[in-house]
Amino acid sequence: MNYNFDKQVGVAQDAARRAGKVIMERQGRASISEKAINNLVTEADLSAQETIIKTIRGHFPGHSIIAEEKDFSAKNDAAELWIIDPLDGTNNFAHTIPHFSISIAYSQSGRVSAGVIYDPVRNEMFSATRDKGAFMNGEAIRVSDAPSLREAIVATGFYYDRGIIMRKTLKSIEKLFEANIHGIRRFGSAALDLCWVACGRFDAYYEYKLSTWDFAAGMLILEEAGGRCTDQEGGRLDLNSTGIAVSNGKFHSEFLNVVGWSVNNDS
Ligand code: IPD
Ligand code: CA
Ligand code: CA
Repeated sequence: MNYNFDKQVGVAQDAARRAGKVIMERQGRASISEKAINNLVTEADLSAQETIIKTIRGHFPGHSIIAEEKDFSAKNDAAELWIIDPLDGTNNFAHTIPHFSISIAYSQSGRVSAGVIYDPVRNEMFSATRDKGAFMNGEAIRVSDAPSLREAIVATGFYYDRGIIMRKTLKSIEKLFEANIHGIRRFGSAALDLCWVACGRFDAYYEYKLSTWDFAAGMLILEEAGGRCTDQEGGRLDLNSTGIAVSNGKFHSEFLNVVGWSVNNDS
């Protein structure tokens, strides 16, 4: 088994930068379509995805790929798998809000070994390899020191659903305000939410419905920065999980007591 993932990180960073250029060139003139209700896709998503796949295939032709806008039918536990979100924050991008990212993870048999998330607006490149720490533009990053939920800035996200997921999210937000936390944010890129917990800008983040490409790279970056990642019930987070609760690790149970999926009924 190979434990040196420098080549994977280098290729992912190169692919993410190229995709970032493709996306930035299309800012403000995106052709938008709705692939499902409230779930947008633009020509930038598709072009960025082609750029990333071409770059990865050029170096690793035999590897499997899962990419949001393409059906490769690869399994999450494939021996060598790339998991790609070519544009995380499409809704922001489509509305000219400058907050979005590119997320690329490399996984071996269901375990993420390398992850890269690039914010082309701020030119911030987040990266991690298993057991080797997390970095932003080459500098090591760490989670915040916030000791309790009371002193936390918490990020969240809303799925496209207007049913139970929305109602539970609203309920949990009400409970966070009752806990008198410092603040709540919804910025619109799950991958960056994870990176921002990893570098201490946010103290915690949760979202009840995500796809693998939204969090695969970010969960490794956050774990390598000293954070704690679970699913929305406090169980082990893996590539088959569909919801997420992450924190700086200092008040995770307290956090789950407020935002856990099952403690937030929608009555
Ligand atoms: C979305 C973003 C958003 C999150 C949604 C995701 P997309 O990804 O990460 O922050 O709230 O659940 O689907 O569609 O922009 O790649
Ligand atoms: Ca996404
Ligand atoms: Ca996307």
